[in-house]
Amino acid sequence: MRETSNVELTIDGIAISDVIRLHPTSFYIYSAKKIRENFAKLKSSLEGFEIFYSFKANPNLTICKLLLDLGAGADVSSGGELEAAFRVGFKPRDIAFVGPGKTEQELKLAVRENIFAIVVESPYELELLDGIARKEGKSVGALLRINTLEEPISPEMMVGGPSKFGIDEEGVVDEIRSLRLSNVRIEGIHVYSASQVLDANFIANHFDYVARLALKLADEIGFDLRCVDFGGGFGIPYGDERPLDLTPIRDAAFGARSLLLAKHEGCRMIVEVGRYIVAEAGIFVTKVLRVKTSRGKCFVITDSGMNHFSRPVLMRVAHPIKILNKINQPATKLCNVAGPICTPIDVSGKDVLLPEPEPGDIVGIFNAGAYGYSMSLVNFMSLGWPAEIMIDDGKVEVIRKSHPAAYLFKDQT
Ligand SMILES: Cc1ncc(COP(=O)(O)O)c(C=O)c1O
Repeated sequence: MRETSNVELTIDGIAISDVIRLHPTSFYIYSAKKIRENFAKLKSSLEGFEIFYSFKANPNLTICKLLLDLGAGADVSSGGELEAAFRVGFKPRDIAFVGPGKTEQELKLAVRENIFAIVVESPYELELLDGIARKEGKSVGALLRINTLEEPISPEMMVGGPSKFGIDEEGVVDEIRSLRLSNVRIEGIHVYSASQVLDANFIANHFDYVARLALKLADEIGFDLRCVDFGGGFGIPYGDERPLDLTPIRDAAFGARSLLLAKHEGCRMIVEVGRYIVAEAGIFVTKVLRVKTSRGKCFVITDSGMNHFSRPVLMRVAHPIKILNKINQPATKLCNVAGPICTPIDVSGKDVLLPEPEPGDIVGIFNAGAYGYSMSLVNFMSLGWPAEIMIDDGKVEVIRKSHPAAYLFKDQT
């Protein structure tokens, strides 16, 4: 994605100064090429699996459409994301709806639109769905989300202990068999165990675990296994970690697929992935307003911070930060990169080594394509909303306009 010229960053052949000339900071900038490459890497490692793009990572409609065109399905977690998926053109049979707190309204929408996979996260939700389907005169399929007994390995683990997600593995057979369902058919299981996993063996073991569990539950509960959603959790390096090795995952996915298809011909196999596809394709771009020293510490104050890109603060992740107009200058100065927000927590990067910073420099925070805009506190301090820009095949396209502060006030009395 990023060949660098001598002085400044270029993205797929476009110099950042050319983008800045047309679009004021701050903004997110994405490389369509990188998204395509990441999708292709995943696809070639998961033969026979369908990749459902997780809208929550980045629901920009242009990005979602790009993924639709690449052959992805849609993994949505709210009525809003479901509407976005329809608007982009995803077919109901290629949408999965997952989430621990779906409202009755949202379930009704999913039933009316005949989406393929409604993933239920409790017996209560299953009964609710059954009632809705009955009222709507429909018979619907559902996947059971399972809170497995897999060993927790990361702080972003969603299974293995008490969890708001899914039905506990050890109780699911009794709980489901005790229900009297008239209009819902159980068609499979869903297990999303953790996010941001860089341990390939964990994901490889997960494929095997879930395939075996699906076979066991289909037998013990007594349903026709038509789909297994393996979740994902494919991580990316934010710092100097080693990138995820897809080789053991490819082998394990192949094994899981053989196991399932041997008994259940035609069973759909899905993974839901957001971050791995889009994170590295995005940079958050801001401008330096001030450089100051306080008690020996250098502060680089940019024109937006945690308001427009909250993730470094909310999730305490150190994203790589560079001065984009000094891309090849030696990084010798230790700085705190902070935004304009009136709280001391508004620091996007602590003790970052940068070339000598000056007002007017352009700061890029890398790996910002996932959980960037979608996770940010964009209304904080009334600084307006940033733009989103896509570089695709030599073209620079604004795929979401920026909005000034006045836009935030327009619906207020
Ligand atoms: C159920 C579920 N599916 C998919 C995802 C997407 O994860 P990622 O963007 O890390 O691939 C998440 C993230 O939290 C999730 O909770």
